[in-house]
Amino acid sequence: MSVWPFRTIIEPFRIKAVEPIPFLAQSERRTAIEAAGWNVFGLSADTVTIDLLTDSGTGAMSAAQWSALMQGDESYAGSRSFHRFEAAVRELTGYEFIFPVHQGRAAERIIARTLLGPGKVVLNNTHFDTTRANVEQSGSLALDLPVPEAANATSHARFKGDMDLAALETALDHHGDNVAMVFITMTNNAVGGQPVSMANVAGVSRLCRARNVPFFIDAARFAENAWFVQRDEPGWHDVPIKAIVRRAFDLADGCTMSAKKDGIVHIGGVLATRSAAQAERFRNELILGEGYPSYGGLAGRDLEAVAVGLMESMDEDYLRYRVRSTAYFAEGLEQAGIPVVQPPGGHAVYMDAGRLLSHLALDALPGASLAAAFYLYGGVRGVEVGTLMFPGARLELVRLAVPRRTYTQAHVDYVIEVAGHIAARAKDLPGMRIVRQPPFLRHFTATLEPTGHFPD
Ligand SMILES: Cc1ncc(COP(=O)(O)O)c(C=O)c1O
Repeated sequence: MSVWPFRTIIEPFRIKAVEPIPFLAQSERRTAIEAAGWNVFGLSADTVTIDLLTDSGTGAMSAAQWSALMQGDESYAGSRSFHRFEAAVRELTGYEFIFPVHQGRAAERIIARTLLGPGKVVLNNTHFDTTRANVEQSGSLALDLPVPEAANATSHARFKGDMDLAALETALDHHGDNVAMVFITMTNNAVGGQPVSMANVAGVSRLCRARNVPFFIDAARFAENAWFVQRDEPGWHDVPIKAIVRRAFDLADGCTMSAKKDGIVHIGGVLATRSAAQAERFRNELILGEGYPSYGGLAGRDLEAVAVGLMESMDEDYLRYRVRSTAYFAEGLEQAGIPVVQPPGGHAVYMDAGRLLSHLALDALPGASLAAAFYLYGGVRGVEVGTLMFPGARLELVRLAVPRRTYTQAHVDYVIEVAGHIAARAKDLPGMRIVRQPPFLRHFTATLEPTGHFPD
């Protein structure tokens, strides 16, 4: 599409199969959210008109992926589908030892059980929550080392997903042999899907190689990250996406990957390494929890879909549309009066509920109130990423994640219109109070109630 002469960036696909979405009256949505304890996780999906809860496993597979499913070889060991999966991951990463897993956190758990343990330390630009939970479960310490700009929601700086290299060097020196491994999460989900620069990956690689510390990439959004590098990092503009992706993996020693993001599948993941010694341990652990190493908790047909999806996500027309449509969404929300974290990342927009609902104190859960408002007024489901999810959080956000190839620009325009309706009532939105909460990961199952009325 580099020869495309027009300004409008269109969805680079046409639609062959469709799925109806439900339309409820506001009174029906009120009944549904009350029954869900004012927690959007408790909603039944068939009461949600536009579901932006996550971009994980919610994308639309292509005709090529659906037809690849039919090629699935369900042999227990050594299936053709495994060989296709392995070839695709090797083409992408260059790694020698490649294992399928059922999703990203399974790869994290295998690492936690084989390479980690009490007294060890793992350094990351920012641990995603499942990574942190697996590291901590093993008894290791999980340290986040984001660059300071990551905490500034209004700064338009590029590559806010980078790791703080000076802090990394200090941590490596301070913790010495206790550092079991270093991760770069790309894109950096926990700070808003912000990309990581190649210069930063190279810097991390240099520091780790000098000390013989294993360096892995959490590669859930490897293709979106490469697009930001090509667009914004000096020296990379003319480098093809596939070459950028490969260069990043070349700088590391292995990767974990949830294929439910840039693999554009409904289930699947990858664990890969260059080290034969690590691979031996991974293989044995994988057999205990996932299955035989040539299927790793997946059906042969799933492996086929991953092999195709990994290549499709590197298509430049797709990536241009993907990143531009997320930016369009963010621009529309801002124009509608909702502040969003800048710059928008690849997979989601993060609305600043703390700023929008500044009349509410943090313990009145402004993020939970805004998430409830999007459902109540428009049937739109996002997720609070603030005090409810992370008690003590610095930012009070609501994330609207964008499933891949699933919603059209008209759907996004509709959500923007709902946002305008909410912005006009922002000062009257009530706070929320927790009625009941579990001892950990409370955002999933807590029940809430508004401390006042949502205006009409
Ligand atoms: C950066 C990152 N790492 C790991 C995971 C875990 O992957 P999964 O949900 O497939 O277990 C996710 C999922 O959202 C993620 O965003």
